Amino acid sequence: MDILKELIISRIKNKGKITFADFMQMALYYPEHGYYNSNITSIGKSGDFYTSPAVHQIFGELVAVQLEEMWRTLGSNEFTVVEMGANAGWLCYDAMRYIKNEYPEFYEKIQYIIVESNPYMRKKQQELLCGKDVFNEKLSWHSYTIKDGFSFDAVQGCFLSNEFVDALPVHRLIVKEGALKEIYVGYSGVDLYEIVDEVCNQELKDYYIGTELTLRENQIFEISLAVRNYLNHVARKLHRGFVLTIDYGDTAHRLCRNNGAEGTVRCYYQHSVNREYYKRLGEQDITASVDFSHLMNVGKGLGLEVAGFVKQSHYLIALGVLEKLNRLRNNLETVLKVKNLFLPEGMGDIFKVLIQHKNVKNPSLSGLKPLNTIKFA
Ligand SMILES: C[S@@+](CC[C@H](N)C(=O)[O-])C[C@H]1O[C@@H](n2cnc3c(N)ncnc32)[C@H](O)[C@@H]1O
Repeated sequence: MDILKELIISRIKNKGKITFADFMQMALYYPEHGYYNSNITSIGKSGDFYTSPAVHQIFGELVAVQLEEMWRTLGSNEFTVVEMGANAGWLCYDAMRYIKNEYPEFYEKIQYIIVESNPYMRKKQQELLCGKDVFNEKLSWHSYTIKDGFSFDAVQGCFLSNEFVDALPVHRLIVKEGALKEIYVGYSGVDLYEIVDEVCNQELKDYYIGTELTLRENQIFEISLAVRNYLNHVARKLHRGFVLTIDYGDTAHRLCRNNGAEGTVRCYYQHSVNREYYKRLGEQDITASVDFSHLMNVGKGLGLEVAGFVKQSHYLIALGVLEKLNRLRNNLETVLKVKNLFLPEGMGDIFKVLIQHKNVKNPSLSGLKPLNTIKFA
């Protein structure tokens, strides 16, 4: 039996059963053996899935356009980008290279912190980013844990994440005979199996009641308490600026309406999707669609106001992806790749962009502009 499975079984034996969130935490983050703490290549052709920065550098360049506007909005002073879970480091590389070439004054003022828990990924990021383009003096690496928060002082700037929040552990709640229950993971002596029991925590019940959702019998809905902790720490460290969250997901009501009874937790393994959560432990990604209502509501209580919430297609078009493509129209290969980022059947509709702000009065950001106000150059 593999080591991670043994570790999980031993935790279950100690406690009787564990929440799905505890199981997901171990499967993804157990030191050395969890999917995101091992040296598995998760992203790209030889991995399990693609992310937008892996599709094309235009994604990072458009994020750079947005960061520059945020910098001006904050008064063109010192500006720190904190990127969560940078994986291979492409987003940082593409954004910083663009900023260096296109916005030298902004480049002067920028500091870029990568927060990465995976030691193998940190090494990969350093190989990609250090040396070549003399980003060295601009970059630093830090850590984040739920218990201790971030290992740096308060900043002015932007917390940036792409596909970070979906990898935070979730509790799975289910309605049984009209009552709200929780799904736990037990061990039968042979296999891991699911146990339905009382909800482990009042916070989960309170959140569910607050959403005013009406789940059907046997319908599953996920709530991440790790998301709350994360935003809490972000709000503490963000003195003034923005939180830019890009991920797949939707509002709680739309997630509930549009997903089947089994909820949104799924696994990615070698570019195919499955719901075999208890197989290939540490070898496959486990993820849940992000409940953006949760991020917005928790944020408001922490002084993070919503600047806007749009589809990735809207965001990229508003930031100028079509103009960029128009200039590249003779390069069909690039056009076909980049289209994936904003077409509805690609990543355009599933992925959403949420921008929250703190201590900034009514910011007006290009990526959030209504599409009918945009004129094409
Ligand atoms: C799905 S990947 C994100 C991919 C990357 N942002 C991209 O767009 O290509 C999730 C990343 O979050 C990192 N991560 C997860 N929990 C973390 C934590 N507590 N602190 C720092 N990084 C974390 C993982 O190691 C992994 O690199």
